[in-house]
Amino acid sequence: MSKDPSTDPTPYAVTNEPSRRSFLILSGAVAATAAVGPATPAVGAPVGGLGQFSSYPFSLGVASGDPLNDSVILWTRLAPQPLVIGSGMPNQPVPVHWQVADDEAFTTIVREGETFALPENNHSVHVDVRGLQPDRWYFYRFRCGSELSPVGRTRTLPALGASVASFTVSQMSCQNWQTGYFTAYRYMAQDGIDLGLHLGDYIYEGSITAVAPRDGATVPDEIRDPCQSVDQYRLRYSLYKTDPDLQAAHAAFPWAVIRDDHEVSNDYRGGVDQGPQQLARRAAGYKAWWENMPTRCAPPVGPDQRIYRRFAVGSLAQFDLLDSRQYRTADNDPLVSKLGNEQEAWLIDGINSYDTTWHLLAMGQQLGGVATSSPTRNRIYQAYYDRNVSPVILAGDLHWTLVSDALLALPDPTSPIVGTQFIGTSITSTGDGPGSQATKDGWLKYPWVKYADGYRGYLRTVITPTGLYSTQRDVQFVTQPNAPVWDAQRFYIAAGKPGVQLV
Ligand SMILES: [Fe+2]
Repeated sequence: MSKDPSTDPTPYAVTNEPSRRSFLILSGAVAATAAVGPATPAVGAPVGGLGQFSSYPFSLGVASGDPLNDSVILWTRLAPQPLVIGSGMPNQPVPVHWQVADDEAFTTIVREGETFALPENNHSVHVDVRGLQPDRWYFYRFRCGSELSPVGRTRTLPALGASVASFTVSQMSCQNWQTGYFTAYRYMAQDGIDLGLHLGDYIYEGSITAVAPRDGATVPDEIRDPCQSVDQYRLRYSLYKTDPDLQAAHAAFPWAVIRDDHEVSNDYRGGVDQGPQQLARRAAGYKAWWENMPTRCAPPVGPDQRIYRRFAVGSLAQFDLLDSRQYRTADNDPLVSKLGNEQEAWLIDGINSYDTTWHLLAMGQQLGGVATSSPTRNRIYQAYYDRNVSPVILAGDLHWTLVSDALLALPDPTSPIVGTQFIGTSITSTGDGPGSQATKDGWLKYPWVKYADGYRGYLRTVITPTGLYSTQRDVQFVTQPNAPVWDAQRFYIAAGKPGVQLV
């Protein structure tokens, strides 16, 4: 059943070449070179003064993402002044050199090339590096003019069908900058992660009313207003991406990123909220998201962008990443999917796209409430059940860690266990744990809910051919820097045996 990802209909396309209009404003010499191919000026050579900066242009760090078995996306954004509109960059394309090496000292370069940071993309760079070896770690960096970026570390996926002894993912979501420090990322960066799964709320679009608890942080007035325009969303990403712990986690391993609601607006439902103002806001939010994420997804076209996609890690695991906001209409319409009928059909038709032991399903918000029936969820769980496939469902949104048996027909406690659902807590949103005891007791009164935890943190999951081992990693607080972390709970799922155990 395995198939080459190049045949997957996911609209993967990285557009990083200057538009025709962009070429015309390049200097003549550069335009003549660039228009006939990717070759551009010699490495490190400033172009008509470009490439020389008033301050460090790689202030937002580097990132990588959406690895395949021969490829990974490399990302950076030139921003010598990240907290002003335009990031202190000239309104011109700027050539950027990139390198991938076997070693951190870059003595063995395996791939390198030139691309352009374009003003229409806020001088972000997405490089689709091809021809890499499967199941390998690499180092990468960028150079612009005389400036070198920090070094990032990334990896490719194992070859399709290959046996894989173990693969470790982190699950994270919901990082409200003004709520606290991203300390969880500092630990995650050192936690042996092969792939980070960010399930949305990478930014919060609402007004920034205070900088406490981030004492000493400077937030210009234009970044404080609720995001509406693309420039406002861009500035919000800039503010978040100045965080050193977030940068460290991006530089340490590749990420696969999807969205929840706050990348646009609170609780938006794309299939319903279709007024012109909301569509313009969605287009702005999606554009800035794409510019700032190390994603293989094609850029949005106006307010539309397909981000649901799938990939496989050898014969170990298939990952299906969903979009739970863009196509949503009524939450409990029996005829219209919460995912949109097209995405739901894509999911169900592709359950066995790859012949793997594990099937992980990642989304921003869970398909239905913890204790309520959902027609969409019922159909999807039934489809897995009919195929004798037990999914592991990863979701964000709730700002609580909730680990549950996924029952075929919630809330009937006697219905069969289809799989396991891990709802991850937040990186910072809602602030310091442990959360309300009454809320926790409320979750735990449902017999299918096995664990509830109101601390901030992330979930680290080691996937092996025989079992899946997850550890909830909690940070003690987020309103002060340097919080300690601890393993709050471990979970185990045996391959082929639905149901989660606390161990
Ligand atoms: Fe959130």
